[in-house]
Amino acid sequence: MIRERAYPVEPWHVREIRLDMDVLAQSESVFALSNGHVGLRGNLDEGEPHGLPGTYLNSFYELRPLPYAEAGFGFPESGQTIVNVTNGKLIRLLVDDEPLDVRYGELLSHERVLDMRAGTLHRELHWRSPAGREVKVRSTRLVSFTQRAAAAINYEVEAVDGPLRLIVQSELVANESLPAQSRDPRVAAVLESPLLAEEELTTDDGGLLIHRTKVSGLRVAAAMEHEVQGPEHATIESEGYEDWVRTTIGCVLKPGETLRVVKYLTYGWSSRRSLPALRDQVGAALAAARLDGWEGLCREQRAYLDEFWDAADVLVEGDPEVQQAVRFGLYHVLQAGARAERRPISAKGLTGPGYDGHAFWDTEMFVLPVLTYTQPNAVRDALHWRHATLEQARERARTLNLEAAAFPWRTIEGPESSGYWPAGTAAFHIAADIADALRRYVLVTGDTQLEREIGLELLVETARLWRSLGHHDRNGVFHIDGVTGPDEYTAVKNDNIYTNLMAQRNLLAAADAVNRYRDEALHLGVTDEEAASWRDAAADMHIPYDDDIGVHQQVEGFTRLQEWDFLHTPAEKYPLLLHYPYFDLYRKQVIKQADLVLAMHWRGDAFTPDEKTRNFLYYERRTVRDSSLSACTQAVLAAEVGHPELAHTYLREAALMDLHDLNENTRDGVHMASLAGAWIALVAGFGGLRDHDGTLSFSPRLSSRLSRLEFSLQWRGRRLRVDVRPHQTTYSLRHADPDDVVELRHHGEKIQVSRDQPVTVPVPPADPTGPMPEQPPGRSPLLRLPEAQS
Ligand code: BGC
Repeated sequence: MIRERAYPVEPWHVREIRLDMDVLAQSESVFALSNGHVGLRGNLDEGEPHGLPGTYLNSFYELRPLPYAEAGFGFPESGQTIVNVTNGKLIRLLVDDEPLDVRYGELLSHERVLDMRAGTLHRELHWRSPAGREVKVRSTRLVSFTQRAAAAINYEVEAVDGPLRLIVQSELVANESLPAQSRDPRVAAVLESPLLAEEELTTDDGGLLIHRTKVSGLRVAAAMEHEVQGPEHATIESEGYEDWVRTTIGCVLKPGETLRVVKYLTYGWSSRRSLPALRDQVGAALAAARLDGWEGLCREQRAYLDEFWDAADVLVEGDPEVQQAVRFGLYHVLQAGARAERRPISAKGLTGPGYDGHAFWDTEMFVLPVLTYTQPNAVRDALHWRHATLEQARERARTLNLEAAAFPWRTIEGPESSGYWPAGTAAFHIAADIADALRRYVLVTGDTQLEREIGLELLVETARLWRSLGHHDRNGVFHIDGVTGPDEYTAVKNDNIYTNLMAQRNLLAAADAVNRYRDEALHLGVTDEEAASWRDAAADMHIPYDDDIGVHQQVEGFTRLQEWDFLHTPAEKYPLLLHYPYFDLYRKQVIKQADLVLAMHWRGDAFTPDEKTRNFLYYERRTVRDSSLSACTQAVLAAEVGHPELAHTYLREAALMDLHDLNENTRDGVHMASLAGAWIALVAGFGGLRDHDGTLSFSPRLSSRLSRLEFSLQWRGRRLRVDVRPHQTTYSLRHADPDDVVELRHHGEKIQVSRDQPVTVPVPPADPTGPMPEQPPGRSPLLRLPEAQS
């Protein structure tokens, strides 16, 4: 864990003021740059030392066998694993006779800054070589949001004393060796030399490498070119071999003189395109990047981000750490989704190899809700990606003897890549999560074209799955048996309440969509009887409840299971999944992550306020938060049931997950769902945003430490700004016509907002709060509240 504050609190930057080798790998994830297509971990320019070298392309994977000690019917036989592709970040420097390496000589200063408005990672260092020669290096790196194949590095070396003989070696390297991984199931499989060389080519000022994966047969091309400025007699030449290409720049610098090298780097990959086509593609991308030049790329990057922040920024007063963290979270969410373009948004984005680069339900239930309200185009693309995987989902359903489509629990390109049934395929709720993401996107954007073209089919195929997975019992009650909900410590059980409630909404949404698009529905073979059967299943859905103690059941029978012995579970035994057999976890009342509590957020319309309060108290006592997908939801519900201070501590846990490395695994990549969760905790928690019944509603109420929360939401092409203060909230509308009116609810009251008429309304006083919810011993929120402002 990054215990002392590694990054000073600043509103728009994440700054590391000294290089700490113990947390190098974590910082590489924090400083990873990506546009959703290309991802570069924040490795040092010179490549070494490193925690984990990493360069990723969205959906560029290798297949690896999933071996089973005891095979079972329907177990996936191979899984997809993200590949560390050709590393183009490398720039090594020889200062007189010594390679610049921060482990040797004296590092007089070293600073790295992620600038979330400029979209760059800047590094400055002052180094004295073992022989006493001094240089200052400044490098700035970007992965372009506007040119999705391109990255660039502006690398400057200044001679402090001198004259100095400098050699810069800028490289492309394939098949880097990777450090051995632990046995933690959450890290990735290591693939030894996954790339086969196909072509290398050099020119004076650059070169390219083309490789292919051995089994998945994907081809990747990486190309680089350099511009050099500095002393007159600088030399430049390039050489290439199978797995590496190197451009060498040499010069002699007088004291105070600077050598500047701009490295343009482009990537392309394909499963279909020929080698010459790929070669041309990266060449063309290089030409396009050079057309703009370094300054042009930086200008475009800033303009892109100005537009993003204008639509998406969240202002937090009273907790500067959260202010920084929510921007950091939004920045990484944007990086993961901005240019993913019909490719998945995975649990780690393109920041590390954790979870093998797979996308889970994290995408639809954590990342997409945020992007829907801030960058809806990225959501449109993500839904297209899911739709493109329908054929594989249908095949999986056939294998499982189910109808329609069974979407994979984890995947890169569509096939199920989870080899573990109870916490994998049995988590069928992914179907309803996809349907809900679609519903929300259409609601917020009004994009009925997408709904007609792909939405209807997604809704129909998921509704059919529920109909074939569930059944009406002899009393007509509809059950969905033998499934796993979000809580992975409760598996293969009957009637998971989250699954049932989300499936219910899915079934109704499908039946409604069939009414709206009758011709298209006929084309999909939907009859009136079929649509009516979806409505019946929804109406008869079983919602498990324990009458004796007056709480809902997370799954049928949950509240009568044996209690987990928290008192005799020492702190070092968490996360429990690494220390106890699943057998034991499954049969007791111990909860890894919000499940019923999550249902109370996304299906809050299905619970009364009283039920929410009682349920929250009950489940809070049994939830250990061994997953980072929990704290943000607990924040939302704690705020709703009247515990704003508890909500605030959970908000901090979600938001600071990676900046503080709270789960001690940020090295494998950032926790995208938790970072998105910071926004969710603020906007749905303290802002009280809900969109259940097709209208926007808010119930804003701040914690005592916050003096202001302001956020923007995209709503049907307009921008709604919500400015929450302790006693009042102002709603205003931008990007709207003068006669546009948006109707919304504020603490249950209908109000109308138009462009020229912001509305300020009081925040009603909070109801008296009930008993303080308690966590299992030793599992209270990881971070305390900030100091109160005087
Ligand atoms: C969580 C899942 C999540 C996965 C990837 C697991 O630990 O329990 O809900 O989808 O991590 O983030």
